[in-house]
Amino acid sequence: MQAVELIRKKRDGHTLSTDEINWFIAEYMREQIPDYQMSSWLMAVYWRGMDARETSDLTMAMAHSGEELHVRDVISPVVDKHSTGGVGDKVTLAVAPLVAACGIAVGKMTGRGLGHTGGTVDKLESVAGFRATLSREEFMRILTQHSLVLAGQSHDLAPADGRMYALRDVTGTIESIPLIAASIMSKKLAIGASHLLLDVKVGSGAFMKTVEQARQLAETMVAIGQLSGLHAVAAITSMDQPLGHAIGNALEMAEAIAILHGNGPKDVSHLCYHEAAELLVMTGSAGSFSEAESRVERVVRSGAAVAKLAEVIAAQGGNAQQIEQPQLLPAAPVRSMLVAPHSGYIAGIQSEQIGLVSMQLGAGRFKKGEQIDHRTGLVLQAKVGEYRRAGEPLVEIHARTDAEASSVREPLLACYSWSDAPVTVGPLVYDTIRP
Ligand code: URA
Repeated sequence: MQAVELIRKKRDGHTLSTDEINWFIAEYMREQIPDYQMSSWLMAVYWRGMDARETSDLTMAMAHSGEELHVRDVISPVVDKHSTGGVGDKVTLAVAPLVAACGIAVGKMTGRGLGHTGGTVDKLESVAGFRATLSREEFMRILTQHSLVLAGQSHDLAPADGRMYALRDVTGTIESIPLIAASIMSKKLAIGASHLLLDVKVGSGAFMKTVEQARQLAETMVAIGQLSGLHAVAAITSMDQPLGHAIGNALEMAEAIAILHGNGPKDVSHLCYHEAAELLVMTGSAGSFSEAESRVERVVRSGAAVAKLAEVIAAQGGNAQQIEQPQLLPAAPVRSMLVAPHSGYIAGIQSEQIGLVSMQLGAGRFKKGEQIDHRTGLVLQAKVGEYRRAGEPLVEIHARTDAEASSVREPLLACYSWSDAPVTVGPLVYDTIRP
């Protein structure tokens, strides 16, 4: 086989065989295919697309390119959860302990924030001493002993994705449904959970800007699951405004703890309980959605869910006292309130822009590898649809200095749009795609 033949074949709109896809990825990983040929092939896929079988073959070839954990061979069922990323998205921090407290094991590898969306590992690392980098043995031991592990993404899993993603990032080939689906699902297959809940975000603050695009990505990933023996379900959920109130690492950790206590903001709490219930139904642990919801409610009321989070934090070297008493989490030295500039209904809050303001305060990275400040961020005092009188609190700014707090006031106000008439808020869950 010749790489240029496979580039031409895809360029001309033909379908690649399983052997051809396996060969292409394997030769790339053996450094026998250079980056310029891989880039060219990625561009051909970007324009010509891939059918379900090709996408599944590509995913599998990428999943087999490095270490594989096979967690379901050790404990089953074992669930995984993935969000395509949003602003204020602390859902994994709450769903994982909720599900584990209901008796279903959760083995989760999770990323760092880059760009306007935050990363779960960064939020967890706001807890003193928490260790996200685990060896394979530690990952397995913590998972079997505590039914829950929350680790950083290992570079040894699906290394083909790491190399291909870096190329896509600089060759204009990120925005391709088969390439995004294969990238996400290869990392999931390499972990080897039995069940996967995908949260595909859609809206101004998300990768997918329309429900139609999100549905296509969701259906593609669920189909890959079906073809590879992973039971995957995808919820299509709104990112038209930030989720909950808190944006920023320690602030979101505190909000996740509130959700586990049953005191979180309504929108994000509803989403967390909904996703946890979906996982209980998927695994057959609950016979119906209402039974699943009652079980989730019980572990919230009994304190078992928050205790599970404290348990896993301690198992990974973190200070569990900060979970029991979230006021001990790191706090920014400056708190400053931005007030409503006039009276009216909040018609929109631009998630992406709000995420960028939070990054400016130090809560996110502009470049890979940058240090972040776990203490800083924003706490929204009102969401879309709510009425505010002029001078009433709009956003609490958590900053390192007064100057930094002042510098974000104008950009923050620009994130809001207002209406004189009442505003209807769209649904949080648009649809759920099942196999
Ligand atoms: N997240 C991933 O892991 N890969 C993509 O291609 C896009 C989002």
